[in-house]
Amino acid sequence: MFVSEIPALRGYWYPVAYSSDISDKPRGVRLLGDDYVVWRGADGKLGCAVDECPHRAARLSQGWLDNGDLVCPYHGWAFHTSGACVRIPQNDDDKPVPPRARALSVLVDERYGLVWVCVGMPGADIPDLPEAEDPNFVVMHEIMEVWDTSAPRVIDNALDIAHVAWTHRNTVGDSSAPKFESYEINRDGHKLSARISYRARLTDAMRANTGLTGDHTIRVTNSELVQPFVYKDVMEYENGLRHVLFKTATPVDDHHTLFCQFIARNDAPDEKKRAGIIALDREIQSEDKVLLKNIRPEFPLEIQTEMHTRSDRMTVEYRKILAELAHENSNVTPDSAWARPFLQAARENTAARARPDQRENEKTPK
Ligand code: FES
Ligand SMILES: [Fe+2]
Repeated sequence: MFVSEIPALRGYWYPVAYSSDISDKPRGVRLLGDDYVVWRGADGKLGCAVDECPHRAARLSQGWLDNGDLVCPYHGWAFHTSGACVRIPQNDDDKPVPPRARALSVLVDERYGLVWVCVGMPGADIPDLPEAEDPNFVVMHEIMEVWDTSAPRVIDNALDIAHVAWTHRNTVGDSSAPKFESYEINRDGHKLSARISYRARLTDAMRANTGLTGDHTIRVTNSELVQPFVYKDVMEYENGLRHVLFKTATPVDDHHTLFCQFIARNDAPDEKKRAGIIALDREIQSEDKVLLKNIRPEFPLEIQTEMHTRSDRMTVEYRKILAELAHENSNVTPDSAWARPFLQAARENTAARARPDQRENEKTPK
């Protein structure tokens, strides 16, 4: 499936920028295949609208701000954050602005230092992420960049704890310990959670970041699907440290994702420690980014399309959740329609080759 095939996904809020990036200039953002403009009004509140002037379709994001009103670069119409046009310079001053002269506004809000946008009818609120607002935790923003992959691939990767031992073998993974010590998973509607413990490698960078000693630790990870494209993980360490990871995957379009990662820590790290934590987390995510770039962006919803193991239970449930959202109202292409012809041919050849062997086996007396 592609994100654009599931209308229900338009009813969620997605981060599009850091709040601090929206100040004295309008900013163009792309979400679910469409372009929008975000700007900050004179009262400090944000506006967001389709990035197209209602007059002659100019890109409003190419304009500028005049006392918080967004000025179109083509003929100078000015728009309040509500979307209402407040000035048409070509008209006489005493002539009221026609009510139809409006930028097409969409919902926008701010939380956790991020600008969130919902372009559809909201079916959910901006997610609650308690540690990100808990005074006992320090929040650090780490990554906000567009990845060449689809949003479900990003979240699938986050929910997939088994990949850590392999994809991150050069940073925090330990490929000599690929099995989980324990694995409990829970599903509540469209939310998922799992408590998993596994052996993790302690490199110099990890020892500096965590304050732990030795070569290994048992990391307990409380992995959570908060919304279809919002993931949270409370990582527990034996010394009481909590490293809380928040990942959001904003669907820019079916093939691109604005990946955002921020963390909350309960150890009040100083500047030096913060820099080390951020550097390591960025390195880990760059390992995922390289891997995901080369995975097809289509996301399988039919469970038989791929193979699954016991450790894939979270990601199997994720497929089921997205399939349920798709079922609500959509026209999702069946996985078989996008399977590459050579894969299909290879499957058929393999099956044909297996047949004579099977016949041989059947002849073998038991
Ligand atoms: S196109 Fe925007 S004012 Fe004319
Ligand atoms: Fe990863």
